[in-house]
Amino acid sequence: MNLAGLWMAGTEATMWLPPQKSINGHKVDELFHFILYLNYFFLAVITLLMIVFAMKYFRGKQGREPEPSPSHNTALELVWSIGPLFLVLYIFWVGWTGYLDLRTPPGDAFEVHVTGQKWSWTFTYPNGHVDGDLLVPVGRPVRLTMGSEDVLHSFFIPAFRAKMDVVPGRYTTMWFTATEAGEYQVFCTEYCGTEHSSMLAKVLAMEPDEFEQELATRSNYLENDPPLVAGEKVYRIQGCTQCHSIDGTDGIGPSFKNIVLGQARPLADGSQVVYDENYIRESVMDPQAKIAAGFDPVMPTYKGRVKDKAVTVLIEYIKSLNDE
Ligand code: CUA
Repeated sequence: MNLAGLWMAGTEATMWLPPQKSINGHKVDELFHFILYLNYFFLAVITLLMIVFAMKYFRGKQGREPEPSPSHNTALELVWSIGPLFLVLYIFWVGWTGYLDLRTPPGDAFEVHVTGQKWSWTFTYPNGHVDGDLLVPVGRPVRLTMGSEDVLHSFFIPAFRAKMDVVPGRYTTMWFTATEAGEYQVFCTEYCGTEHSSMLAKVLAMEPDEFEQELATRSNYLENDPPLVAGEKVYRIQGCTQCHSIDGTDGIGPSFKNIVLGQARPLADGSQVVYDENYIRESVMDPQAKIAAGFDPVMPTYKGRVKDKAVTVLIEYIKSLNDE
């Protein structure tokens, strides 16, 4: 335990963040608390001295003659220059070595690709499976390669003390090793538009055996699950839920419940289109081709990102919403 560790001994959850559950998380907390308590210390010293001096040198109602005061004190100036110099050098040293650790993933890391887009996260695993949850094995380093389909986002897992910007047109990376099985929250921490605050995801940290099993099960859902079950999963995994409700309330996009095959839908350009499988498919692959009246053309394309089978079961799912 280093000097900063002593400040922190015994504390895990902080008033700012949930308990840390990754192997590097304590470094972030230690430095944060060191700087925080250092500030408390100097705040107390300076405030106290201000009060003491104000009382001691108070001029009073009848007035006192000003007394001569020293204009220079070499010893004092050396102390308050060199002392803080060592403090900031220590902060720099811990920050720099911690930064290097946080930026350098171990070689045997499990790789997951993260895609950010308005307003959802999707995770692509080495076997090609795409999921809306980030599954990770406990005790093994996980390296995320992240990219954005549209604007600047930021990927933040508070429990792991891990955060990195997700930028369009380039890849950024981060890594962590979960220390305990559990469910952890992911936030987007870069304002990215209307639904920024609901751009959430879950990290599911599992023991290695359970992790392998769960990933294998999820990877085959398109083949193994009945169409409606698979369709509902596509709806959730691909982030449709962010903009398309299933209860009839229109959001950023039309509610899936209001998509009734055979019914006409007015378009933004004044024409009309009749709902059928091909129009739904086109709306997924080329969303800007026909914009429904009353909605903004904000949907990203899923071309090249979803299998045909996924679109087929999604259409079955949409149709089933009106069957009851
Ligand atoms: Cu994505 Cu905020």
